[in-house]
Amino acid sequence: MDMSIEPLGKDFFARVCGVSFKSPPLGGVKKTIVEAINKYSVLVFPNAAPTEEEHLAFGRAFGELQLTSSSLSGKRKRRIRPEFADVSNLDLNGRVLPADSRLAHNKHANQLWHSDASFRKTSSKFSFLAGIKLPRSGGETEFVDLRAVWDALPEKTKQKCEGKIAIHSLLASRRRVGFHDFSEEERAAYSYSPHPVARVHPGIGRKCLFVGSHADFIVGKDEVTGRQFLDELLEFATQERFICSHKWTPGEVIMWDNRCVIHRGRPWDMSVIREMRRVTVDGDGTTVVDGSIVPGI
Ligand SMILES: [Fe+2]
Repeated sequence: MDMSIEPLGKDFFARVCGVSFKSPPLGGVKKTIVEAINKYSVLVFPNAAPTEEEHLAFGRAFGELQLTSSSLSGKRKRRIRPEFADVSNLDLNGRVLPADSRLAHNKHANQLWHSDASFRKTSSKFSFLAGIKLPRSGGETEFVDLRAVWDALPEKTKQKCEGKIAIHSLLASRRRVGFHDFSEEERAAYSYSPHPVARVHPGIGRKCLFVGSHADFIVGKDEVTGRQFLDELLEFATQERFICSHKWTPGEVIMWDNRCVIHRGRPWDMSVIREMRRVTVDGDGTTVVDGSIVPGI
């Protein structure tokens, strides 16, 4: 089957047809996907419907997969294997989680703008999210291309971002939704990770604003001023003109580049199943070493 790539709506979002998930992409197919993700930054693969094994193999074709943070802390039993982020409202037995449960509260932070795993020292490169069971209404995923955001920033703001390092933490995004219910062990397991606020995408050499709800404070600034600046940047980045909203169809897989995209899930009726799983490809290394920004990561 021939591959075709068709832009959808905003210029960073494209539909890729003719790619089978039955076997991992090799050679020319993989090269075309990498070129497309560098050009667009979000790709939707319709009718992919991968099995768990196919989903894992497809992600691994692009690099090493991250284990999820809940599997790293090692305490919580998981519904699915540790390479998958469980983007669902299901409990261990496949039943809908009560909306007031601890896990549902924790997952509520997925509805804030974020780059997957930016709370890790080596943050992620690509995410591959598969839609399995989806609500009829609500539950969309929205994306923002941070390359376009950087281009649109006022020159003065760009200068204020240059050389700045933000500290990202999972605890920060959970705090924003009012979730504080972490054990001491969990708190210790979640690291505080530095990333540049202005980041150059290594695949295309374009600069991106790197913000999101995991970003907690800025190195060298007092907490209030730093957080205020991060909030202002996020508010700028998430203006309507930068957002692309996707209404899911079962069987789709969406791939995005976390180095230059933030995303969020939208609300839906939590008594209805929304089942998705994600594999996440590790980044190429740490973006900050000994307080200095590493170029080309
Ligand atoms: Fe996410």
